[in-house]
Amino acid sequence: MNIRKVGVIGAGQMGSGIAHVCALAGYDVILHDVTRERIETGLATINGNMTRQVSGQKITADERETALDRITPADELAAFEVADIVIESATENEAIKRKIFSDLCPHLRDDALIATNTSSISITRLAASTDRPERFIGVHFMNPVPVMELVELVRGIATDDSTFDLMNDFVQSLGKNIANAEDFPAFIVNRILLPMINEAVYVLYEGVGSVESIDKAMRLGANHPMGPLQLADFIGLDTCLSIMQVLHDGLSDSKYRPCPLLVKYVEAGWLGRKTQRGFYDYRGDKPVPTR
Ligand code: CAA
Repeated sequence: MNIRKVGVIGAGQMGSGIAHVCALAGYDVILHDVTRERIETGLATINGNMTRQVSGQKITADERETALDRITPADELAAFEVADIVIESATENEAIKRKIFSDLCPHLRDDALIATNTSSISITRLAASTDRPERFIGVHFMNPVPVMELVELVRGIATDDSTFDLMNDFVQSLGKNIANAEDFPAFIVNRILLPMINEAVYVLYEGVGSVESIDKAMRLGANHPMGPLQLADFIGLDTCLSIMQVLHDGLSDSKYRPCPLLVKYVEAGWLGRKTQRGFYDYRGDKPVPTR
């Protein structure tokens, strides 16, 4: 099979980033979310980020125009009947993802592939909620998708070799580098990154350092481009918490216990940049620590 038409479910920060890189690589993209408003917000994000790439001379204005024209908004899952592959990038919640797959499958061609951008949930378990576990695979992009070079490819127990080979070629055609990961909770990047972020929240919770000193320490002391609390706000604190819960439940080890302060921020609806407040308050001209 030749992949030409790519469906993307979820127009949030990851889904819009995936649609962005696919369209720039020359694929026709069908972008779906639960409301037209969310799709429009995703398209505006793509437009803004492509404009930024034009200003940075990464792409030309013509390439931006052509890529934007390749993206078609879709209100209904029925629009995916023409897709060669559908990449699911909805909320990091297993029940929501399973429901999407059961609604999606009846609309797909028999030979269409399904990929999930889950950052932590078992590929094997998600595959089992579809009618095609052998044509199902994990393809985990990093945020911001247009900038980050890595994609983790994760096979479920039933993923067949042709699915893996097709996805391998497809991801490379997007200009990304691949790390293969086995199907264990949170794969490689998040298995390592999220416990570090959770530990930074513990350091804050225990009063070892302030938000500013923790982030400064890791930016200047370990050369990280962002401090761990800044990065947590960037990823989304709800996503961080759900990944920690998947690690805690899946590996049954208390070292993955989510920090109670992280839980409290999520309960408050302070989810980071997307809600304008997390470990920093983004409502003013510059971010101000909230603790
Ligand atoms: N789309 C397109 N271009 C973007 C962009 C976006 N969304 N965000 C940033 N850029 C571009 C900027 O335009 C800029 O381009 P030029 O070099 O042409 O000027 C370049 O990227 C660098 O951006 P900035 O100058 O604004 O800022 P920066 O140098 O601080 O870099 C960053 C920003 C790339 C986000 C950097 O801070 C960084 O690498 N942070 C860490 C990101 C990270 O760790 N991501 C992984 C998160 S974990 C994950 O995603 C997995 C998961 O499941 C949770």
